[in-house]
Amino acid sequence: MIWSLQAAPDLSDKQFTQWSKLLEERAGICLSDQQRVFLQTQVTMRMRELGHSDYTQYLNRVTDGVSGMMEWSVLIDRLVVKETSFFRHKPSIDFVRDTVLDRMNQNTLEGSFDVWSVGCSSGEEPYSLAMVLNDTFEFAQRDPYYGVTATDISRAALTIARTGLYPQRKVEMIEPHFRQRYFSPQEKNRYQIQPELKDRVCFNHGNVLNITDMPVISMDVIFCQNMLVYFRRWLRHEIMNAFVDRLKPGGILVVGLGEVVDWVHPDMVRVPVEEVQAYRRK
Ligand SMILES: C[S@@+](CC[C@H](N)C(=O)[O-])C[C@H]1O[C@@H](n2cnc3c(N)ncnc32)[C@H](O)[C@@H]1O
Repeated sequence: MIWSLQAAPDLSDKQFTQWSKLLEERAGICLSDQQRVFLQTQVTMRMRELGHSDYTQYLNRVTDGVSGMMEWSVLIDRLVVKETSFFRHKPSIDFVRDTVLDRMNQNTLEGSFDVWSVGCSSGEEPYSLAMVLNDTFEFAQRDPYYGVTATDISRAALTIARTGLYPQRKVEMIEPHFRQRYFSPQEKNRYQIQPELKDRVCFNHGNVLNITDMPVISMDVIFCQNMLVYFRRWLRHEIMNAFVDRLKPGGILVVGLGEVVDWVHPDMVRVPVEEVQAYRRK
């Protein structure tokens, strides 16, 4: 029987440990034993495409030099959870809007207002942030002097994000004002992000584990939701510490509610906002 028609062999304990170790070392993602079937399904699917029938042989391929890195970038896209939506956590997005509004009202908005969406998936989060920022600048009759940088480990997700073309089911949940202002209907029930908004968002490939190698650009807001939750506690804390060095004084770090516990930093204070987990740099 040809391999593609055979049932996938089960991952042995040793193989599961090897694969999960690789995923954690390279992406920070920590799999539980319950996710064994998920890992097995994704890896075998890719092995089938390549004609491999042996987990260890494929692991050697993935870890072998430059070609291994290329294969890894295909595989990692299958192993990450990319679930996202526009305005996924509205209180956090509203908090970013209020932050920029306060700065405008207090005349403390100097230079460009820079936001970083970390683990941006297919772009819904950074575009949501750009929509509220754009609206706020417009409402205040100011030039739109803001930018959103968005990074993710998945190249496939970034390709969708850069295109800015979304199916109707993703767009119909958005408030009518934002939908009408920032999307234009296209063929086949798809919606295109308006170019003026798209130009404000810059997508880059980036593994947050390599944050210390990334250029040190100071941000007004770092927005990181539904990504740290897949990492071990100590790693979440390390990444949070590294975010602090990339915030302007007074800058804001917004994470998913409850995703990071027991984190304190001498330069950061928790902002008392209901339903939002945010910290301000002193
Ligand atoms: C569940 S999605 C969350 C998307 C968005 N932030 C939201 O809240 O809707 C998690 C994203 O984190 C990305 N991710 C996972 N590990 C990463 C890493 N080590 N570096 C950068 N991005 C990573 C995944 O590719 C995925 O797109």
